[in-house]
Amino acid sequence: MTVYTFPRKIYFQRDIIETLADIIQGSEKQLVITDANILKFHGERIKRSLKGRNFKIYSNVNPEPTIESIENAFRDNSLYNPDTIIAIGGGSVMDFAKSMAIKFSYPDKNLRDINPFESLAIKVKLIAIPTTSGTGSDVSFGIVLTDGDRKVALGNYDLVPEISILDSSLTPDSKDIIRSTGIDAFVHSFEALSANTSTILTDALAEKSIDTIYHNLENAMNNDEEAKDLVHISSTMAGLAFSNSGTALAHALGHSFGSTFHVVHGTSVGLFLPYVIEFNSRDERTNEKYMRVGRMLGLENIIDGIKDFYGEIGQPYRVKDLGISADLYYSRIDELVEKAMMDNELAFNPVIAGEDDVKELFSRAYGD
Ligand SMILES: [Fe+2]
Repeated sequence: MTVYTFPRKIYFQRDIIETLADIIQGSEKQLVITDANILKFHGERIKRSLKGRNFKIYSNVNPEPTIESIENAFRDNSLYNPDTIIAIGGGSVMDFAKSMAIKFSYPDKNLRDINPFESLAIKVKLIAIPTTSGTGSDVSFGIVLTDGDRKVALGNYDLVPEISILDSSLTPDSKDIIRSTGIDAFVHSFEALSANTSTILTDALAEKSIDTIYHNLENAMNNDEEAKDLVHISSTMAGLAFSNSGTALAHALGHSFGSTFHVVHGTSVGLFLPYVIEFNSRDERTNEKYMRVGRMLGLENIIDGIKDFYGEIGQPYRVKDLGISADLYYSRIDELVEKAMMDNELAFNPVIAGEDDVKELFSRAYGD
């Protein structure tokens, strides 16, 4: 049996944030969770859109939120008792908001115990408004939190937001951010397509998302509004695809590389995608899917085609192009391999990747 989880509603329209009060009709008390940056750029708009409603804004979310910071935020707001949490931000804000939804429902729950095998009765309605086009966490059940010096990936199907609101007027104008987040969504789609848990439904979402991002990311980076809209909804389609399928080897390699050399997530996972496609092509079913995507994009060779696409938008596919010296890189390659081998995403890869394979992939990705 396959179970698919989706939000109950997805709204999609530029500037729809202005009508937030209509969307939350029936809600008596809202807690808006965001970060200082979003508050700075969009605070007035958010407050205006909720004018006359009984709301409170919590904007103290830091990147890669710690369990401690969530416990503190809950302690400070535990008496507020909202019936709706509105998360406005990127992946960290979504992770924080989902965690707060758990705490308002189960005040004594240890967040480390969250798992996909139990049913949670979440008492607050979770509304997700993503401000980047990439993570897909507005439609996913996952949470990534920092616990001391380690990252913990948690998840529960009851944490899929009830409503996702897609308004690309809230997304940044920065070329670098649009590129790296868009590439993250592009990789989510490829990984969802190849994952050993993929199905016809997730394939459909992944294929359309790849096609749309491939044809629109460059224009989105130039702040073309229609292209930004399309990339924005495509990142949510990619989120629906991977959260009902999986992410895999490019994420395992990218997580390891990104945390070791402090390279942003989308750029890291994107860098490894061409090598992962080549590696996974030895699996017949996966190769057929890559061939189909290649035909869809009009490419003779999908790997060369992706490298050309990367070249046009400035996404690297060789580690050396990031200015990391060969000496430094190879001095840490065992650490890279070790971290990648411990990554949970490996389990979803269609071809089993052993330590030697992972080392070879890291070596090849450095570039000649
Ligand atoms: Fe990702």
